[in-house]
Amino acid sequence: MSGGPAERRPARLLLIGMMGAGKTTVGRLAADRLGWPYLDSDLEVEAATGRTVAEIFAEEGESAFRAAEAEALASALSVEPAVVSVAGGAVLEPANRTRIAQAGTVVWLRAEVATLACRVGDGAGRPLLAGDPAAALARLDAVRRPLYAELADAVVDVDGLDPEQVAKAALAALEGR
Ligand code: S3P
Repeated sequence: MSGGPAERRPARLLLIGMMGAGKTTVGRLAADRLGWPYLDSDLEVEAATGRTVAEIFAEEGESAFRAAEAEALASALSVEPAVVSVAGGAVLEPANRTRIAQAGTVVWLRAEVATLACRVGDGAGRPLLAGDPAAALARLDAVRRPLYAELADAVVDVDGLDPEQVAKAALAALEGR
């Protein structure tokens, strides 16, 4: 984006990346450090619908969830300043990507699939990981990796880092811009 003098980057830190990358834990830590509100697109979906993500998938399927997710993301991105964790699959929708790109500083919490698999365990509460979580993560990661890369203003390789270290790196990316 061309940064003319009149342009101001919104005061938001957006965390993107796969399930298990640590977006929620790191997002809460970063928000705490900044004294900014913390929002999470999954929590917004659950608050708006009164149902869990797993319930929406089970009762109405993924496309209904994606529609609710797009609305929830738009609502989360109306708050400023804010730290926003963007659920892993939201980047699949081009309109969401446009919103994300314009909303602030985007940090990709990048992880090896083995790290993700270790962290999500049996995938409980994550319908797309039912059955074989490691295989599902590998398949989803292959599709999404280029989308995360396209959106990221900064990348933090989270493998081997604890949440405090990741939060520190994400905040450094925010301050560096
Ligand atoms: C999904 C990620 C989940 C949740 C849903 C689908 C995905 O959020 O929205 O289970 O498609 O990657 P987190 O990334 O916060 O786990």
